Amino acid sequence: MQAAEHDDPTDIKRASTSVPILDVLADRWSPRAWQDRPVEDEKLLRMFEAARWAASSGNEQSWRFLLARRHFDESWEDALACLVEGNREWAQAAPVLVLTAAATETRRGRPYKHAWHDLGLAMGNLSAQATADGLHVHQMGGILPDEARGRFNVPDDFDIVTAVTIGYLGDPASLSERRRESELAPRSRRPLQETLFTGTWNTESPILK
Ligand SMILES: Cc1cc2nc3c(=O)[nH]c(=O)nc-3n(C[C@H](O)[C@H](O)[C@H](O)COP(=O)(O)O)c2cc1C
Repeated sequence: MQAAEHDDPTDIKRASTSVPILDVLADRWSPRAWQDRPVEDEKLLRMFEAARWAASSGNEQSWRFLLARRHFDESWEDALACLVEGNREWAQAAPVLVLTAAATETRRGRPYKHAWHDLGLAMGNLSAQATADGLHVHQMGGILPDEARGRFNVPDDFDIVTAVTIGYLGDPASLSERRRESELAPRSRRPLQETLFTGTWNTESPILK
């Protein structure tokens, strides 16, 4: 079936920003349809190298990643089994699945309060690099952490935080009707006026006037 012109979500999904921002940020979005095309190892390496250079509290670098490539790694089935059913349904078509984990303690054995924050920064870097390389990333909180801990021998001093699909954008027609609708819907965000304050809580910053 020939895809209709309006079935390419790329333009629809581009962020409609109040002022110009970097293309890699405006063009990032979280798809559920994937091409059956492996991601080049060089591009994967670039993504994890980008993640590696994120800032972190005390340079603790909370992040760890378990990478499973559908076409190459036997552990891909195990990684897929760590997703809740609703995510497994569409994530199984992606060529790459990653489980992310964050240290619960600092090197000095203290509680690592900003560990998830720092993993998030690394994921921001990874996503930006992926976008620059023509790839898409979809992060998922809907996972089964106990499955992941058991199947991948994740030690107790790491939280398993998300699973992430990575790949080339696929055809929305491959999705169920409900998912296709969301694949083709514009993205939205709360306005900056409700997010950025100066002086006191809930008071719009003068830079927005
Ligand atoms: C930590 C985190 C958890 C998420 N969990 C899920 C999930 O379990 N399933 C899913 O389909 N999308 C999940 N998402 C994707 C979000 O729904 C998506 O990022 C959000 O709706 C904004 O859309 P955009 O990324 O296309 O801008 C998650 C995203 C993040 C960052």
